[in-house]
Amino acid sequence: MSHGRLHIGVIGAGAVGCYVGGRLVASGVADVTLVGRQWLADAISAHGLTLRELDHDDLVAANDIRFAVDPQAGSTCDVVLCCVKSGATADTAAQLAGILRPDAIVVSLQNGLRNAETLRAHLPQNHVIDAIVDFNVIMRDHAVFQRTTSGPLTIETRREPKHQPWVNALRAAELEVVEVDAIEPEQWTKLLINLNNAINALAGIPTREMILSRQYRKVIAMLLDEGLDVLEGAGVRAAKFRGVPLRVMSFILKLPTPIVRLVIGAQLRMDPEARTSMSQDLERRRLTEVDFLNGEIVSLAEASSRDAPLNRRIVELVHEAEHAGAGSPQLDAETLLERIR
Ligand SMILES: NC(=O)c1ccc[n+]([C@@H]2O[C@H](COP(=O)([O-])OP(=O)(O)OC[C@H]3O[C@@H](n4cnc5c(N)ncnc54)[C@H](OP(=O)(O)O)[C@@H]3O)[C@@H](O)[C@H]2O)c1
Repeated sequence: MSHGRLHIGVIGAGAVGCYVGGRLVASGVADVTLVGRQWLADAISAHGLTLRELDHDDLVAANDIRFAVDPQAGSTCDVVLCCVKSGATADTAAQLAGILRPDAIVVSLQNGLRNAETLRAHLPQNHVIDAIVDFNVIMRDHAVFQRTTSGPLTIETRREPKHQPWVNALRAAELEVVEVDAIEPEQWTKLLINLNNAINALAGIPTREMILSRQYRKVIAMLLDEGLDVLEGAGVRAAKFRGVPLRVMSFILKLPTPIVRLVIGAQLRMDPEARTSMSQDLERRRLTEVDFLNGEIVSLAEASSRDAPLNRRIVELVHEAEHAGAGSPQLDAETLLERIR
C-alpha cells in the first residue's frame, strides 16, 4: 500500500458502487475513482453525482467526480471495491489482472457466495476480501443514487487485521461497518433473505408492498423454509439476521400483516419505492443474479443428493422472464403459488 493519500477505486460503478464511492468522495477521506459505463459518465458529467439518503432530505451532491470507463484507471489504486453483478465478476477480474498493483486490496461488495473466490482465481497476487452490503440502493435518472433501506456493510477480517485504513475510510464516510471474523454464515443469511428478490422481480411491485402482502410473504417463507432445510441437510450454518434466527423470521413472515408491520418496521427502515436489484434488472432487460441466489440453494441441495423444487422453479420462472425480455411478468401471489407447486 502506498504511503500517501489512500486511493480507492470502484470497479462497476452502478447502484452500490456509486453510493459507496459517492459517500467516500463526499467525505473527502480518500481519492476515489469510479470505473463504469460511458452513459453513466455522461449523466454524472451533466448532473453531478447525487446521493439521496433514506430520509430524502439528506442530499449529498459531489460534482468533482473522477469517473473512468477504462479499468486501467485501477492501476494506481490501493483498494478496489468490486461492485459488478455476479455474472460479470470473472470478466471483470480478467480485465483487472495485470493492471492492479500486486499489493492492492480487492474487496467484493457483491451478493452471492463465490465472487471473492472468482476474484482470487484471476488475481492471485492480490489480497481479496469478502464484504456484504446489507442495504438497498436504487439508481434514478440523472445520476441520482437513492438508499432505500437501513443496514450496515459487513466486512470479513479473517484474512487481515481489523481497522485497516480503508475500513476506517468507509467509517469516516459515515457508512456503518461491522467487522466479522468469518463471513460465510452471514453470506448464507444474506442469500436466504435475498430469496425474496426473485419474488419481487416476478411480482414487479415495490418491496414494501410485497412484504405487506400476506400471500407474497407466504411464498417467500416457503422459499426460505426450503433453503433452511437444504442448509441444515448439508450441515451449513447461517447467521442470525439482525439478531433474529431465520426460522423465527420465517414464522414472522407467516403472521398477519399488522403484526409483521410492527415487527419489520422496528427492524428495518424502508422507502416505499424500494425495489430489489433483481427487479430493476428485469425492468432494464438485463440478466439477473438468480443463479447466484436461489440457484445456490438448488446446487447445494443437489450436492447433498436432495432437491429444492420451489427454488428451482423460481430460477426457471426468472429465466423465462429474462428471455421474454418484457420486464416483470407481474405475477400475483396466487399465480406464483400455482406456478411453483
Ligand atoms: N443494488 C443494491 O441495492 C444492492 C444491495 C446489496 C448488494 N448488491 C449487490 O452488489 C452488486 C452490484 O449490484 P448493483 O445493483 O450495484 O449493480 P449495477 O447497478 O448493475 O452496477 C454495476 C455496474 O457495473 C457495470 N460493469 C459491469 N462490468 C464492468 C466492468 N468490467 N467495468 C466497468 N463497469 C462494469 C455494469 O454495466 P453493465 O450493466 O453494462 O454490465 C453496471 O453499470 C451485486 O452483486 C448486487 O447483488 C446490490
